[in-house]
Amino acid sequence: MLGLSIVNAQTVLVAFVVGLLVYYMRKWFLYRLPPGPWSFPLVGNYEVYSKPLLHRVLLKLSKKYGPVFRLSFGHVPFVILNNYEVVMEAIVKKKADFAGRPSSTTFSLLSEGYKDIALATYSPMWQYHRRIATKALRNYLQGDLLEKLTQDNMTKVMNMMAAEKGPFEPKSHLDNIVFYQLYTLCFGEKKDIGDPEVEFLIREKDLVNKTMENGIREDLLPFLKDVYPSKRYTIIKKAVDKAFDFLYRKLEEHKETFDANNIRDLTDHLLMARSEVERTGDEESLQKLTDTYLLQTISDIFFAGVDTTRITLEWFLCFISGLPEIQAKCQKEIEQNIGRRCPSIADRQSLPYTEACIYETMRAGVIAALGLPHLTICDTNVGGYDVPKGTVVLINHYALHQDTNYWKDPEKFNPLRYLDENGKMDPKKLDSWLPFSAGRRVCLGESVAKPEILMMCVHLLQRFHISLPEGVKPNFVGEHRNVFGTESPADLEIVVTERS
Ligand code: HEM
Repeated sequence: MLGLSIVNAQTVLVAFVVGLLVYYMRKWFLYRLPPGPWSFPLVGNYEVYSKPLLHRVLLKLSKKYGPVFRLSFGHVPFVILNNYEVVMEAIVKKKADFAGRPSSTTFSLLSEGYKDIALATYSPMWQYHRRIATKALRNYLQGDLLEKLTQDNMTKVMNMMAAEKGPFEPKSHLDNIVFYQLYTLCFGEKKDIGDPEVEFLIREKDLVNKTMENGIREDLLPFLKDVYPSKRYTIIKKAVDKAFDFLYRKLEEHKETFDANNIRDLTDHLLMARSEVERTGDEESLQKLTDTYLLQTISDIFFAGVDTTRITLEWFLCFISGLPEIQAKCQKEIEQNIGRRCPSIADRQSLPYTEACIYETMRAGVIAALGLPHLTICDTNVGGYDVPKGTVVLINHYALHQDTNYWKDPEKFNPLRYLDENGKMDPKKLDSWLPFSAGRRVCLGESVAKPEILMMCVHLLQRFHISLPEGVKPNFVGEHRNVFGTESPADLEIVVTERS
């Protein structure tokens, strides 16, 4: 009897192992998959994906396996794209093939079940909301609202920077600049720095970022959240629930006071879009515009731009404080073209050198190195390899920005790379420059971020001379800062002095 059950157990085990082998080998016969390091079943390439500064590790692997290679995160197959040619082939030439988003426990939490734009997969619903949000942002950017908002916020925060005695870490000031800016853009109200509502949101955002790191165990094994939720999952859920409660309250206030003849902010622009649909009586569209979907669009615009914009500003300060001759050239250009008046979006044309410094900051600084993960929505191919439907695809923006085929001495900060012989920005020199990504999933906020960051930097350069503390040498090396695929300048401290 015992012998029989041992035989049965052996049979089951052999059948299981053979089943696993057939499952994994099937793909090898059906598809020409990209190469990659050997991985363990279930845990995958843990030794790779558990490392900090993953984008750097992936760039190293691409030297061995080529620009398209495969990796397993747990049991989930990933494909990593590491140069401009394969990235453009995938996200532009192949249209929507690579435009999906993978699902995960954290993504679902952050978007109330994928009802936002950034984390929802490619679908008619996503297309609809992306169109509405694009239009709302475009309407918002008309006129001089962004200029006024930037001036207001910059003055407040720069006064606080000026009051610093000696060297200081700029992170919290830059967080304030960006957060208060996006707060007013979304909700209209101008808040004083230190406002408890805004401080509360900054705290919850930082807590989610810090806890999330490179993912939580529920991302690999989703059922754990129902049977044995981890401490990190519980912390994230609590913080997200609190932040959404707050955003819902703001949405309610806006609904109660909405006046189609007085559009105050982005939330009003979205409510306006809903009221236009109401007037047409198009029931099908109206059902797509529930409060949850509107709130998730607001939440994306609010949170997707905060860290990326702040880290760009941190890198900008790092480069210009370490390279005083470049800072002086920007200040000269600003002085000659706009003097001390408030910068506007239109000034971009007359500040090519300063703008080139910001482009170079976005290349040489590491901002959203791995962007957001994509997902193939059908069987497709890239770089000569097959990529089956349902594969997660990462774009290694860092690899594109360090590619020596496009950038001579990529580790050097050199704004002249982008200028033609007349000192104007040359769009032909922007191949392999892709901080905002491209194609269907290109960053929704690019049209806001570019002029906004330029204006913020001009404000800083007009008012301050920015330097490193005495005796400190320039250091353009980044360090891991909790958010997947970002680096902040290591130990950055600056000194600001008012310019006469
Ligand atoms: C320097 C600033 C910024 C950088 C470098 C940046 C970069 C990116 C990148 C790399 C992506 C992923 C694109 C992809 O999936 O291939 C993205 C997506 C997105 N960004 Fe930005 N971003 C910035 C600022 C902003 C701002 C200010 C906003 C809001 C106004 C914003 C809103 C979004 C949204 C909503 C998405 C998701 C788009 C989609 O999935 O369709 N971003 N961004």
